[in-house]
Amino acid sequence: MDDLTAFPAGFQWGAATSAYQIEGAHDEDGRAPSIWDTFCRVPGAIDRGDTGDVACDHYHRWPQDIALLKELGITAYRFSIAWPRVLPQGTGAVNRAGLDFYDRLVDGLLEAGITPYATLYHWDLPQALQDRGGWPHRETAEHLGEYASVVGRALGDRVREWATLNEPLCSAWIGHLEGRMAPGLRDVTAAVRASYHLHLGHARAVAALRAEVPGARIGIVNNLSPCEPATDREADRAAAVRADGHTNRWWLDPLHGRGYPQDMVDLYGVELPIQAGDLEAIAAPLDWLGLNYYFRHVVADDPTGPPPRARQVYLPGVPRTGMDWEVRPDGLERMLLRMTREYGARRILITENGSAYPDTVGPEGQVADPERAAYLDAHVAACARAVRKGVPLDGYFAWSLLDNFEWAYGYDKRFGLVHVDYATQARTVKGSGRRYAEIIAAHRRRVRRAA
Ligand code: FCB
Repeated sequence: MDDLTAFPAGFQWGAATSAYQIEGAHDEDGRAPSIWDTFCRVPGAIDRGDTGDVACDHYHRWPQDIALLKELGITAYRFSIAWPRVLPQGTGAVNRAGLDFYDRLVDGLLEAGITPYATLYHWDLPQALQDRGGWPHRETAEHLGEYASVVGRALGDRVREWATLNEPLCSAWIGHLEGRMAPGLRDVTAAVRASYHLHLGHARAVAALRAEVPGARIGIVNNLSPCEPATDREADRAAAVRADGHTNRWWLDPLHGRGYPQDMVDLYGVELPIQAGDLEAIAAPLDWLGLNYYFRHVVADDPTGPPPRARQVYLPGVPRTGMDWEVRPDGLERMLLRMTREYGARRILITENGSAYPDTVGPEGQVADPERAAYLDAHVAACARAVRKGVPLDGYFAWSLLDNFEWAYGYDKRFGLVHVDYATQARTVKGSGRRYAEIIAAHRRRVRRAA
């Protein structure tokens, strides 16, 4: 791959996972339920009634999973910490046994020469905090700060790279407006308040980590997508502007000291619960911005739909993954350029990118997934183009190391570089995993030759 010359010597080639999706051990060593444990028990919420109770059993099999990272030559591992393991009630008593798991994991990664990237919050709010009001409630933001202090104090001597939130868009919009994710609400007031308190929680977590972890490099992970009108009609073009506000500007503007976009505040019609000092705290400087990129949105006007009153349209002739998501690597390039040019990003990480396809294990135990390998190639090439245009991209994390619990889709959607047989917990590196290892090795050879 000639494009690899674009990437700097220290570029991180990572893989990402999240706690609830892989760990299992849902009631071990003092872990209390999260909103996802609860949501999984709502009839009809998750395909086939799947739960994260066992998932990939990573809680017990982590040494093997670190060995897989090492085998593929992966240089960085993005994982999330389960709040309900560390503070089972969300606040107050710390569960040492829960923290010990991440202690072991971090030590294991460092021994393997893999840089840990820890995410504090990947959607698994302790149910105890949901019972007290959850994200629509301001106190939850303060509790995220408390949790960040505890984790920073415990791991900050070894973990330098920190993300506060993963995809607050999904927590707020999908969890509180569309109801397809935990906690499963359909309430625009709750959703807007949740979005605001997620940002405030981010601010509290940044402050806590800065205090506990000298030299920490702190970022936030957003899922962003270019939004385009399905036709040239004025109504569709206006819908694309609203979709962009809902998907991108709402999540980036406040972090950059621009406040919340007024067109969207008007559209939602919900007063933001802003208190003195909040907006400044939310805009505190970060060391990096994380981008989870999966697809482009093509939208049409949907006057009677929920905000942003824009409905997804599938244009003919665009390839799609097993999630029905468009394969559009150019969208990744454009989003990286926008983060750099419009928001002045100085360090960007692609914290997730990947694809689901219905993999099967072949007769010799091999998993051939040429579509996923092609998706990977095309998106790495898009990154290279962006870097050549001046984007300060410092790493790429493939989603995901393992097939895992894909939220409302359960185990049916497979995103892994490594196949998981859930009956036996056997791991098999897929063709795309081998392809990723080749990319990483080729880049390393180039760096060595250039040195
Ligand atoms: C992202 C999530 C991640 C995973 C991928 C497919 O929205 O951050 O947990 O589910 O999508």
